[in-house]
Amino acid sequence: MKLSDFVVREAIVIDLQATSKEAAIREILREANLTVHSQNAHSENQGASQAPSQETTVSNDGPTAIRVHVCERNREVVGVLQWRLVEPEAEILDLAVAQAHRRKGHAKFLLERFLQLAAKNGVREVFLEVRESNAAAIALYTNFGFSQSGRRPNYYSRPTEAALLLKRKLTG
Ligand SMILES: CC(C)(COP(=O)(O)OP(=O)(O)OC[C@H]1O[C@@H](n2cnc3c(N)ncnc32)[C@H](O)[C@@H]1OP(=O)(O)O)[C@@H](O)C(=O)NCCC(=O)NCCS
Repeated sequence: MKLSDFVVREAIVIDLQATSKEAAIREILREANLTVHSQNAHSENQGASQAPSQETTVSNDGPTAIRVHVCERNREVVGVLQWRLVEPEAEILDLAVAQAHRRKGHAKFLLERFLQLAAKNGVREVFLEVRESNAAAIALYTNFGFSQSGRRPNYYSRPTEAALLLKRKLTG
């Protein structure tokens, strides 16, 4: 096996403002039309949700801090999962994988690691919103045991679309 055959993956919690990975993270989120959930974030993300839970100004510490997990392949950031604690629940804000690296299990890896970490830290339930037409994400979350617990019409803009609220209970 060649060295280049090794896929290096890690999930770490980082402070978006203080990391050299910030540019890569921003690019993955921009490419996926998702919001950068950090202080001083710009609001140029087309199609970003207008919902309060998706606002970009947040603190970097404390119980409501946004946590960013990244998945790396050969030291390149290829996937990002942003979440926050809303005790005793956790909300996944965004999950995105760089287009060139999709369908290789990176989202599965990030989600698996996140759910393990959340369960270990006493999180009872994980929830998120997803565009109703986002078949890829819905399939991913359904495979991980999430189920629909609500629907919010006209939740997203550009284009206007309903959000499905997905939830999954965790056992510690
Ligand atoms: C959704 C997304 C994160 C999936 O990332 P990924 O690394 O390609 O996903 P994985 O390779 O880990 O696939 C995991 C599962 O997701 C589902 N899935 C992923 N892409 C899919 C697609 N294009 N069509 C249907 N199902 C898909 C499948 O169930 C897949 O399992 P399988 O490979 O055993 O069939 C990625 O497509 C993405 O970044 N999309 C844009 C951002 C987004 O919509 N995020 C979700 C809202 S927060």
